[in-house]
Amino acid sequence: MKLLTELLTDIMTEAFVQCGYDRKYGQVVISDRLDLCQFQCNGALSGAKQYKKSPMLIASDAAGKIKENEMIHKVEVAPPGFINITLKDEYLLNFVESINHDPFMGIPQAEQAETILLDYGNPNVAKPLHVGHLRSAIIGEALKRIIRATGRTAIGDVHLGDWGLPIGLVLAELEDRYGKNIPPLTSQLLNEIYPFASAKSKRDKAFLKRARSITARLQKGDPAYAGTWRRMVDISVEDIKRTFDRLGVSFDYWYGESNSSAYLPALLEILNEKQLLTDSEGAKVVEVAEATDEAPVPPTIVVKSNGSEGYATTDIATIYQRQKNFTLGEIWYVVDFRQHLHFTQVFRTARKAELIPKTTKLEHLCFGTVNGKDGKPFKTRDGGVMQLSDLLDTVTACALERMKDVDMMDEVTKYESAEKIAIAAIKFGDLINHYSKDCIFDIDKFMASEGKTGVYLLYTVARINSILRKVDEADLNSCSLQGIYSDTERELLLKLALCGNAFIGAYEEKSPNILCENAYQLAAAFSKFYHETHILHEPDGMKRESYLALCVITKEQLLKHLNTLGIEPVEVM
Ligand code: ARG
Repeated sequence: MKLLTELLTDIMTEAFVQCGYDRKYGQVVISDRLDLCQFQCNGALSGAKQYKKSPMLIASDAAGKIKENEMIHKVEVAPPGFINITLKDEYLLNFVESINHDPFMGIPQAEQAETILLDYGNPNVAKPLHVGHLRSAIIGEALKRIIRATGRTAIGDVHLGDWGLPIGLVLAELEDRYGKNIPPLTSQLLNEIYPFASAKSKRDKAFLKRARSITARLQKGDPAYAGTWRRMVDISVEDIKRTFDRLGVSFDYWYGESNSSAYLPALLEILNEKQLLTDSEGAKVVEVAEATDEAPVPPTIVVKSNGSEGYATTDIATIYQRQKNFTLGEIWYVVDFRQHLHFTQVFRTARKAELIPKTTKLEHLCFGTVNGKDGKPFKTRDGGVMQLSDLLDTVTACALERMKDVDMMDEVTKYESAEKIAIAAIKFGDLINHYSKDCIFDIDKFMASEGKTGVYLLYTVARINSILRKVDEADLNSCSLQGIYSDTERELLLKLALCGNAFIGAYEEKSPNILCENAYQLAAAFSKFYHETHILHEPDGMKRESYLALCVITKEQLLKHLNTLGIEPVEVM
């Protein structure tokens, strides 16, 4: 299906062309004053300069060409040269009905679209997931689903941190503690050992050096470490999957940095062939500084002086690997802003080496940190890093506390609902702001039952459920929109008709917050309708049927928004 704005643009463009103006001026957008009109075309204002004519004249010319048609109720020219457009009620009703019968719910589907790979989540082996991983997981998952909702192919790759110094530190510490007799590994042991080894490496230079050399030996395939490393990876992945599962975050590929290792020889050959490698104090580097750089961009280290692969090496080799395995139009890295320089180096190296076609886009979507209400990075009460599973437990407990008076559910269902509410609160609380901003983690604000929160959205869906539960199944299945009986309904219908724009906007701007905002606006429009209307007790049969249809359609759209944001609804609240 096309968007309403596209259909209106077609009509308006035709009118501009008929008057001899450029077609680009016929662009129709959603009105920014919905109280005045539904749509507007501002082309006359932009065209005034080119045609040396007053915008009012151009607008009147074009508006005059709009003939009676099935879509448009009224076209008005308003100073200084706007063309305001209002739809026919009947058209609006039919459009919303057709969205409801469209398998894609009114979202235009891309044709022959290129595949986008998302690198997100990015946990590390032997380190528990902490709140820092939360944002990458939440934002990346939403973006992946947004891409898919527009008919494009998205691939999610977790890009596990399994190949760097942290692994060497853990292996060195295991060696110190147990020699060759390493006991069966558990995630508790790994979670305890990494912070310990990391602290130890800061005061014990010899230990750090050994950890580095173990990392290099592991990367070269030394069997002395390969087995323990494999067990570490398996245990960590199991643990990480459990938490991501709770969060409703999943990946198509669980590749790690280590998987790129197989592509390193070929990569080095390309870099050599193109004479991009230079020696720098025993390391091999690629110069990537550019004359226009405002801040220095140091060379990318491809092989360290002890022969090991660094973080940049694995990322560059991974680009090569991805290019070999998939046909990609774009790669999006959902990683926090502190790694921006790293990605600048990696992308420039990949471009210089021509590892990917020029047309393949590489994008670092850098997000801010998770802060507490005080604006400082979010910590546990004792000042430690908050683990993700603890955070989920804390917010779930908060949701459970609020549900203590709900008596329609058994304890298990209650707990499951509380967890869904908690996750909705966290995800929406994060996604409602543009990802580039820091996220202020404020449980009370996230859990508020009014305003732009996940809880309000779940509540709106649950409210619709409770209406629909009171209606006969047969009545529900056959209900359809019959007419528009109030301004509030017209507003709600228009919101429903414009949801496709929000999905496309969220995709084009890579901004889930656009979808969050729209979900909120839709829920608010429904709430207004709900408060003004006696839905179930409406005596007029046609009106009642229409009201029920509005409930059903609004619920479907809200669910589509929530699902795309990675948020699960609850039946009752
Ligand atoms: N695992 C890394 C970390 O925790 C993030 C990886 C980001 N993705 C990438 N392709 N480098 O810092």
